[in-house]
Amino acid sequence: VDAQRNRGRVEIRLLREGDAPALLDLYRRNAHFLRPWEPLHDAAWLTRRGQEEALSTTLRAQQLGVVRDFLIVESGVAVGRITLSEIVRGAFLDCYLGYLVSEERNGRGIASTAARLAIDHAFSVERLHRVQAAIMPRNAASIRVAEKAGMRREGVAVRYLRIDGRWEDHVIFAVTAEEWPPPAG
Ligand SMILES: CC(C)(COP(=O)(O)OP(=O)(O)OC[C@H]1O[C@@H](n2cnc3c(N)ncnc32)[C@H](O)[C@@H]1OP(=O)(O)O)[C@@H](O)C(=O)NCCC(=O)NCCS
Repeated sequence: VDAQRNRGRVEIRLLREGDAPALLDLYRRNAHFLRPWEPLHDAAWLTRRGQEEALSTTLRAQQLGVVRDFLIVESGVAVGRITLSEIVRGAFLDCYLGYLVSEERNGRGIASTAARLAIDHAFSVERLHRVQAAIMPRNAASIRVAEKAGMRREGVAVRYLRIDGRWEDHVIFAVTAEEWPPPAG
């Protein structure tokens, strides 16, 4: 609670042209921290050019309506990223939620706040019906974030995503519009 009281205001805002340097800074400073939790990246990932290319791919996907990708901003400083991806409409109206918060800002409720804001965006702006997250069983902090954001554990998907070069089992968390917003507290 104290940590959250000391925290600045947390907002999410859609990625836009010009965000590549902020993303590069985030990934460079957290390269070691993120490695166990992310797919392997190519050598260009931690370069200005690599981030500019990745950003333009994201912005194209955003224009097509299949991604909503946000910077997490605390008191005006970019401290993380949160993404609604694989947005499917039709009978599914579903997407994936993914997030990261800079290591030195961890443990102050930033990811949980951002997750609530992003899920709220999925339901109230995108009018989706379901948001899901896939989390490795050993990623205790991320599991806690999903729970605090009001997501429900659905089960284990075996060899689900290739993380740091290995096919890893993941726990699937989800929330549907009928469950939103979750009860306060
Ligand atoms: C997971 C991550 C986003 C959490 O960010 P954060 O801003 O610290 O998250 P919050 O402060 O909102 O919540 C973290 C919760 O996990 C808990 N936690 C942290 N480490 C933990 C651990 N090793 N075991 C159990 N709980 C842990 C914290 O105590 C907190 O819960 P609490 O509020 O009940 O005390 C951040 O660590 C990160 O970016 N990790 C690397 C990328 C990643 O794993 N992304 C998710 C992939 S599915």
